[in-house]
Amino acid sequence: MQSNHIIVANHVSKVFTDPVDFRVLDDISLTVDKGEFVVLVGPSGSGKTTLMYALSTLDTEYEGTITVDGTDIASLSPNQLAQFRNSTIGFVFQFHYLLPDFTVLDNVSLPAIKAGVWSADEIEERAMKNLQLLGVADQARKRSSRLSGGQQQRVAIARALMNNPKILFGDEPTGNLDSKNTSMVLDILRDLKAEFNQTILMVTHDLQFAERADRVIAIRDGRIVNHE
Ligand SMILES: Nc1ncnc2c1ncn2[C@@H]1O[C@H](COP(=O)(O)OP(=O)(O)OP(=O)(O)O)[C@@H](O)[C@H]1O
Ligand SMILES: [Mg+2]
Repeated sequence: MQSNHIIVANHVSKVFTDPVDFRVLDDISLTVDKGEFVVLVGPSGSGKTTLMYALSTLDTEYEGTITVDGTDIASLSPNQLAQFRNSTIGFVFQFHYLLPDFTVLDNVSLPAIKAGVWSADEIEERAMKNLQLLGVADQARKRSSRLSGGQQQRVAIARALMNNPKILFGDEPTGNLDSKNTSMVLDILRDLKAEFNQTILMVTHDLQFAERADRVIAIRDGRIVNHE
């Protein structure tokens, strides 16, 4: 049977042991559908980033199971996991982590160069297309450190999309942006969903996001407290 779930988390728990035992994720079960735009909210320290790291394959140290695009990610070897991540998942973080001395074009091209499946010309073409989608194509030849905060964050999204990820994750991607830039990023995410059926899972404190997502998942003390 073909399921429309692209993420399935089953009874996921995680305990930090340092300095004392602390159950940061407590029996989390959730699903995300293909093409869904889901927002994860909750108070500071509630476990949002920890959960995102597990769901996005960055962390595989947990109890329970997480299946992404049909693959139980804990079953992969480190090499398989790295390959799976590079081809399946895109990330946008609160701080963009662009390489400041590289051009915008080079920054965006890097994940595709790493993937090693496209020629240099194809990569440049894809990168320019993504920069255009995010409205920053005119910045392509500049060093990334010369861009404004909002422009840099849009470049980070363009980079995250380079390998056509099945899921785009974000951890407070607009946390450092003013409301105008936040609104622009939000519009772009909505367009990605509408035009390309992009699956999106974002952690945010921003109510603009929560209002315009398909679904809001709230967590508190490592537990899901609602599904609406
Ligand atoms: N490596 C670690 N070792 C021990 N405790 C940790 C570790 N990483 C996070 N924690 C604790 O786990 C809890 C959840 O952290 P997490 O970063 O997931 O919260 P969050 O919901 O993302 O918060 P914020 O909104 O402030 O980003 C916090 O109490 C944090 O101190
Ligand atoms: Mg966090």
